[in-house]
This record gives sequence, structure tokens and C-alpha cells, in this order.
Amino acid sequence: MINRIKGILAAVENFQPKNIEEIEEFRLKYLSKKGLIPALFDDFRDVPVDQKKQIGAEINILKQKAIEKLNELKDSMSVTQEGKIDIDLTRPGDPIKIGSRHPLSIVRNEIIGIFTKLGFCVADGPEIEDDKHNFSLLNFPQNHPARDMQDTFFISPDMNVLLRTHTSSVQAHEMSELKPPIRSLSPGRVYRNEAISARAHCLFHQVEGLYVDKDVSFADMKQTLDYFAKEMFGEKTKTRLRPSYFPFTEPSAEMDVSCSLCGGKGCNVCKGTGWLEILGCGMVDPNVFIATGIDPKIYSGFAFGMGIERITMLKYGIKDLRLFFENDIRFLNQFTAAI
Ligand code: DAH
Repeated sequence: MINRIKGILAAVENFQPKNIEEIEEFRLKYLSKKGLIPALFDDFRDVPVDQKKQIGAEINILKQKAIEKLNELKDSMSVTQEGKIDIDLTRPGDPIKIGSRHPLSIVRNEIIGIFTKLGFCVADGPEIEDDKHNFSLLNFPQNHPARDMQDTFFISPDMNVLLRTHTSSVQAHEMSELKPPIRSLSPGRVYRNEAISARAHCLFHQVEGLYVDKDVSFADMKQTLDYFAKEMFGEKTKTRLRPSYFPFTEPSAEMDVSCSLCGGKGCNVCKGTGWLEILGCGMVDPNVFIATGIDPKIYSGFAFGMGIERITMLKYGIKDLRLFFENDIRFLNQFTAAI
């Protein structure tokens, strides 16, 4: 019996197939039900008791080696066999998972789309700013309490270099570097030193708009922003302006849209008021014109700024701001249908 086992083992180890058919013959000869190895197990019954342990072990080793050999041969043959590729070229390809846009990008692009129809151009600005563009040119005097409205991340110890707290810094660049007419839209990241919660984050996104030309009026601003709101939230959307304060605009206002969830009747999203605040706006303050070298006697303009997270949350009914930054595929997958 031992010799039989050793003979089969040697044959298994030395076996060299020439093609795939021979590998199948190998399997049939040694491992199939009627093959030589199962036959050994059948004959094992007649082995004297004192030899069972040793012979049993030898048969098991043989079986294991034969299986390993078969797998190795299959692996090596599946790639090439005498120059032939053994893969099914008619099989459909593995689908490549195509990602989708982030909801914030979708809404940012939508905002850009609406304003470019009105002739606004996209303008970029740095995220690492100096005090001048983030504050001074925008009529935030040194030590003015309005600076406390925005919890700033300062980079340099002299507090001159900082992470921009709003995209209004881009209007400071635009106005000091370009000549009117200016009609620009500046989307981008902004940073504030705030505790992260469902409603606040240290990083978020804004879009800033600026329109400077001769004879630009408050009515132009109102009309532009009303058009935007209707395009963004639906034709039935109503808007209202409430007086507010921003150092760089005078007069300043905040714009509310009628709550699209309850249609203005009052619900828990609009806290029963029927209105949702979506942006800040106002006529460019003459001090900003003077600081940036534009003559306020010739030119006037309006500016507005909105948070992209806020617009997205209102549009899609998202209740927690942190979802935007977690990259949870279950959240992001829900936006695959959107452009
Ligand atoms: N920069 C303001 C903020 O971050 C938003 C803003 C308000 C921008 C009024 C404007 C504006 O251009 O006119 O809160």
C-alpha cells in the first residue's frame, strides 16, 4: 500500500500538462470519484489496524498535494495556453462605479448657472487672506466690534494673515484691481473658529455677488435677488428684505424666502414664521468705494453673500450640516441623480 501511495505521489508531483485538456485528465485520473486517490480511501478499510495511522496520514498528504497541484496548474493555464488567451472576451466588462457630484457642488453650480444668465462672471480669490482684503478695505476699522462677528483663524502672530472668514474678501480684490462695470460671483470656502454642530462648522462655503456700475439701485438688487430665489426654490417663492447691518454695505439687509416646506404657513423648519433667511445684501458702502479707488459719485453697486450649506439644506431638507463633511457614501449616493 505504501509503495502504491509513493508511486502515485511521484506521478502527481512530476506531472506536466501540455494543455488544459490534460489538466482535466489529471483531475479525472487522480481526484474524481473513480480516481486513484479515492480508490486508496476505499482500500484503506482493509489495512491492518496497526498500520492505519501511518497509511491514513500518507493518503491525506497525497490528496492534499494533488489538490494543490491541480489548483496551481489551473491558475497558470488560465492566463495563456500555447499562446491562446483563455478568457471569455464576450463577457460584459465589470461596471466601473462612477462617482457623483457632492450636493454642495451641485448647488454651487446651480447658483452660478442662475447668475451667469444675468451676466455675472465667476471670480476667484485666495483662502489665505490678509487683514486688508478680509477686513480693512471692507470698512471694518481696527478694533471695531464688527470684527468679533466673525471668529477668525489667524495665521500670523501679528494677526495680519488669516483664513478668510467670508467671500466678501474677493469683492475687495475685484474693486481694487478692476475698473467698473464689475459683475462678479465668487464661490468658495470660508473659515471661522466655531464649535462644530448641526448648524455650524469651522469650514463652510459661501457665494459672494457684486455688481458695480453707474446708476445701480436698491431696486436692481431687489429684482436680481428675487429672480434668484424664484429660480432656486421655485416660481411661487416669495421674498422679503429685512434691515440689517454689515460694515461694507449701506443700507444693509437680509433676505428671507417663503418657507418651501409649509408654503409660508409656518412649520418647525421655519420655526412657525413662514420665512427662511438665505442671504445678506446691501448697497456697497461709499467708504468701500473710496478705500478701493472707485469714485462713489460716479458709481454705485450692490453686493450679496450667501452660505451654500444653508441653501443646500433648505433645498434638500438636510438637517445636519456635518453630513456634508463626513463623506458617508449612503448620504452622497442620494444625489447621484442630480447633475
Ligand atoms: N459677508 C457676510 C457674511 O459672511 C455676508 C454678506 C452680507 C455679504 C452682506 C455681502 C453683503 O456682500 O452685502 O456674513
